[in-house]
Amino acid sequence: MAPPPGMPDPSSGALDPQGPAARAIADLWWAMLALGTATFVVFAAVLVAGLVRRRSPTDHPPGDRPDRLIVLGGVALPALVLVVVMALTVRTMRQVPGTAPAHAVAIEVVGHRWWYEVRYPDHGVVTANEVHLPVGRPVELRLTSADVIHSFWIPVLGGKLDMLPEDVNTLVLEADRPGVHRSQCAEFCGLQHANMGLIAVVEAEADFAEWLAGQRAPAVLPASSAARRGQAVFSAGGCGSCHTVRGTPAAGQGGPDLTHLASRRTLAAATVPNTPEDLARWVRDPHEVKRGVAMPPARLEEGELAALLSYLGGLR
Ligand code: CUA
Repeated sequence: MAPPPGMPDPSSGALDPQGPAARAIADLWWAMLALGTATFVVFAAVLVAGLVRRRSPTDHPPGDRPDRLIVLGGVALPALVLVVVMALTVRTMRQVPGTAPAHAVAIEVVGHRWWYEVRYPDHGVVTANEVHLPVGRPVELRLTSADVIHSFWIPVLGGKLDMLPEDVNTLVLEADRPGVHRSQCAEFCGLQHANMGLIAVVEAEADFAEWLAGQRAPAVLPASSAARRGQAVFSAGGCGSCHTVRGTPAAGQGGPDLTHLASRRTLAAATVPNTPEDLARWVRDPHEVKRGVAMPPARLEEGELAALLSYLGGLR
């Protein structure tokens, strides 16, 4: 089944590479599978031959030299296969860039339990749970963590790398065609590890520039009286003590930046799509959607909730 427009294809993975580094890693995987399969077939054939062949007690007179088959199959063949695998691995490592060229886009990604803070330091952009990449240009991902060890992994674009607290690991990736992909935390980090997803959007350079410009702008002013009331509910509810909405008094840290919340494809780190119904569920009781998260349920009357949703839904 095809994914909805603009959403990631859940069936694509590391064997559907969409960039040079990912392709090199996928090629290595296929080579290792082929070698492993060949080794297994040879081993199974020899085993079967040994089982069916009738032998007489004089086949192995005392003091006989070790069987040629053992030296060949037990020492020479594994040594050869391992040397070939090592050579292929070293070649793949050289194809995966370790340092970024000067024209690469710098992106800082901070892992939190259980979401991603995403910053474009050269463009004054802060967002969450969605990373945009220009097609055909390398990106330098500077990975770190605010709490425990997470692991950054966009399967279609390349290898995974740990996100360590108080340390920065650098991953250089490049995508050579546009697409929307799901990225997954690859290091067990607690209750909602499986729901620690990130949406990676690979887009043409012009679309990327337009997205950056949109994200850099402060939040739009509430357009309706309901949205204005919603902003007041947001302030009174203390939402701004954890969340930032740039251009408003809300400047909290610790939770995702909500300045352009409505422009994002998903909520709660790719746990649910960003629809009005799911946003309502999330705000009413985040633990119903994603048990264990830091955000408390909102204790609001229906009118206040509707106003708040109107405000949040307008943060494009
Ligand atoms: Cu973060 Cu697993």
